[in-house]
Amino acid sequence: MGLLIMQPFSIGIDMIEGVTREPARHNVRRASDMRGYYRDEDALERLISERNDPLHYETFEAPLPEESGHLLFCVSRIQPGAVGDECFMTKGHYHAIAHTAEVHLCLTGRGCMMMKTSDGRCASEMMTPGRVVYVPPYWAHRSINTGREPLSMFCVWPADAGHNYGDIAREGFPKRVLLRNGELVVQ
Ligand SMILES: [Fe+2]
Repeated sequence: MGLLIMQPFSIGIDMIEGVTREPARHNVRRASDMRGYYRDEDALERLISERNDPLHYETFEAPLPEESGHLLFCVSRIQPGAVGDECFMTKGHYHAIAHTAEVHLCLTGRGCMMMKTSDGRCASEMMTPGRVVYVPPYWAHRSINTGREPLSMFCVWPADAGHNYGDIAREGFPKRVLLRNGELVVQ
């Protein structure tokens, strides 16, 4: 069955703020959405209670059909900060259709893309403005803000790929990125 013919369109991206200029589907994750993901659970609870459950990361997604043939794209922005000594990060996910890739173009900030496969391979790539990270099929991916500014990126992936948060939540990523006395530590 073919797709409906859709009208082409364009949107603008504010390359300084790392957000879309036009309204988009806005998804927000606060610190309280991140329970179970950081090593220091007490530090996360303190962050939630003492700083009024701060914004953690958000996506601005173009509303498109989640059908094979289309591409989904969004701008994703992660706030700077740490939970204990662990840098703010996204939950991370595999794709529901695991053999689908994703491309990330870093717009602002500094960070890294942490990736792993279900058979135990682990890789990371630095993210700085203008740098593109290619996440091949089968790799779970999480972005981590290691800098002092918001880390934002433009992301594109097959529209029918879907998200699988459950497997990586159970497995965890083998490496964490920490800030200790101003120094980045990966362990
Ligand atoms: Fe993805």
